[in-house]
Amino acid sequence: MKLENGVADISASLPSKTLITLKVNGTEKQMEIAPWTTLLDALREYLDLTGTKKGCDHGQCGACTILVDGKRINSCLTLAIMKDDAEVTTIEGLAQGEVLHPLQQAFIEHDAFQCGYCTPGQICSAVGLMAEGRAETADDIRELMSGNICRCGAYPNIVAAIQEVIQTGERKAEQ
Ligand code: FES
Ligand code: FES
Repeated sequence: MKLENGVADISASLPSKTLITLKVNGTEKQMEIAPWTTLLDALREYLDLTGTKKGCDHGQCGACTILVDGKRINSCLTLAIMKDDAEVTTIEGLAQGEVLHPLQQAFIEHDAFQCGYCTPGQICSAVGLMAEGRAETADDIRELMSGNICRCGAYPNIVAAIQEVIQTGERKAEQ
């Protein structure tokens, strides 16, 4: 279809809604979404999982970090439709019942937040970082967590919390 000025109108050929399935925090969820819906908006607006935060909506702050098939990604830069059938873990899915994930516990013990807005993204990113297995020193952690911005400047305690969990894991592995 062409508009009056000769420019092609592709919007008419796009489906207004598409059915996708995501396995979110262990539960299969189906939703009908517009193809341009970001994964972040799908989680927050369709599934009410508002733990994942929208900071910049442009891939610059890391507040929206979640895990998809075990890898950390910025959910604001990902269309939900691209992750049809994927396994998604958000901050709501990290604890085992009443038992917090070790990183959640360490963030509390190290006072690794102030306002807390960046915290879900920081923790999900740190889970991904640990799975990558490349962070050995505090400098590594700082470098590999540099996509997660904290406007409150809680970085020293964030790094300390993550380092403690990594070192605890290493000690357990040696036993
Ligand atoms: Fe996604 Fe800022 S909201 S990176
Ligand atoms: Fe406020 Fe990080 S704790 S932005």
